[in-house]
Amino acid sequence: MKGRVEVIIGAQWGDEGKGRVVDALGAKVDIFARYQGGANAGHTVIVEGQKYVFHLLPSGMLYPCKICIIGNGVVIDPEQLLKELKDLQDQGKDRARLVISGAAHVVMPYHKVLDKAQEELRGKGRKIGTTGRGIGPAYVDKYSRCGIRVEDLLDGDVLREKLEYNLDEKNTYLSKIYGEEPLPFHEMYSIALSWGKSLAPYVGDASLIIDEALREGKGVLFEGAQGTLLDIDHGTYPYVTSSSPVAAGGCVGLGVGPSMVGRVIGVVKAYCTRVGEGPFPTEDCGDEGNKLREKGAEFGATTGRPRRCGWLDLVALRYAVRVNGISSIALTKLDVLTGQERIPVCTSYMVEGQDEPHFPCALQRLEKASPHYEYLEGWHEDIASCTSYEQLPPQARKYVEHIESATGVPVNLIGVGPGRDQTILRNF
Ligand code: GDP
Ligand code: IMO
Ligand code: MG
Repeated sequence: MKGRVEVIIGAQWGDEGKGRVVDALGAKVDIFARYQGGANAGHTVIVEGQKYVFHLLPSGMLYPCKICIIGNGVVIDPEQLLKELKDLQDQGKDRARLVISGAAHVVMPYHKVLDKAQEELRGKGRKIGTTGRGIGPAYVDKYSRCGIRVEDLLDGDVLREKLEYNLDEKNTYLSKIYGEEPLPFHEMYSIALSWGKSLAPYVGDASLIIDEALREGKGVLFEGAQGTLLDIDHGTYPYVTSSSPVAAGGCVGLGVGPSMVGRVIGVVKAYCTRVGEGPFPTEDCGDEGNKLREKGAEFGATTGRPRRCGWLDLVALRYAVRVNGISSIALTKLDVLTGQERIPVCTSYMVEGQDEPHFPCALQRLEKASPHYEYLEGWHEDIASCTSYEQLPPQARKYVEHIESATGVPVNLIGVGPGRDQTILRNF
């Protein structure tokens, strides 16, 4: 991967195991870079039995002598970022050098209040089930061109002017529409100034650093957050997040041209999960779904919410391959399927009495989609300590090869447990 960019993206609804895949490939990477989303992400890495959950920091922070970048496309909650950084520092695990783009937007306290108030107002039936981290409102400000960027935190006068304008506007919304208390200026201004002081040593030109690294033949890994079906354009709108988790988002969110991208690695869970509201054609609301949740410990890494569980959806996966240009699949949590007598895999949908092989773009059609399942034979052997593809039971290999033939994409990495060493690399 020298001199090229590899993009790691979630191919489903997030929580596919992107953090563990980034970590598993980390030894060969020089720069790790987050390009979108914010503290709504929760990326779990388990090394030598110790668990780390990254929200804003790239999942490469544990690797010494590497660079970790938070790009312009990310929305940064400085309070959360500084806490995450301090927690790592206290453990002596902040081993990589952190660089934060000055052009990244800041999630301000009013964004979080608005996020929760808007969810409240949406009421039953229209709720998105956001993480409450202020992500949507922060991106709204970015696109309405009034947002506060990290670089603004470094200049007291610019910050004062922008914060006055924003707080005036948001306090009007909060008090007149949402019935919330207005937020005072002075306290927020001094907190924001202190954030600027703390973040200043890390602020740098992310695009330039990556360009220089690529010219020197170094390996750069873009780490997506969320997943394809939560993408603002290509996901199950409006039940999506407010950024572009798809691979193309990496170029925009870091200032790198598409011709530099070598490989797009789609992280795919061996079954499906979703947190929050919105359609999920292969959801299993019965005992089997509960079993998946328990075995797979499917509870949100950010909010602790139980994840909705269901079966692998090849219709959605083929769509993810298309909109991301996935050239390699990292299949995680194969071990969770151990003990399953037969494994349902959705091969097409039925929509209004018609067979639908393609993922419907319109929410109204998707909501009517019922899955057509094929059943693959399960296995009972414990696979958690398998270290090569050949050691997997034949039925598990068949499951992997079924995914390959249905998508036309090779499965080059298989997760058989959450730990760094529970990773099988195959023709990688
Ligand atoms: P991310 O947001 O895509 O990084 O995924 P999360 O960290 O939110 O959720 C993935 C969960 O699955 C975490 O608890 C991981 O430790 C766990 N995990 C990842 N890969 C595997 C695997 O191959 N097997 C098992 N059993 N757990 C895994
Ligand atoms: P990682 O990076 C799973 C979901 C929320 C909600 C919707 C919008 O760990 O895979 P938001 O707070 O972004 O406005 O919420 O998106 N969501 C995630 N689901 N994994 C995530 O991140 C998510 N980030 C947001 O549950 O349905
Ligand atoms: Mg997660």
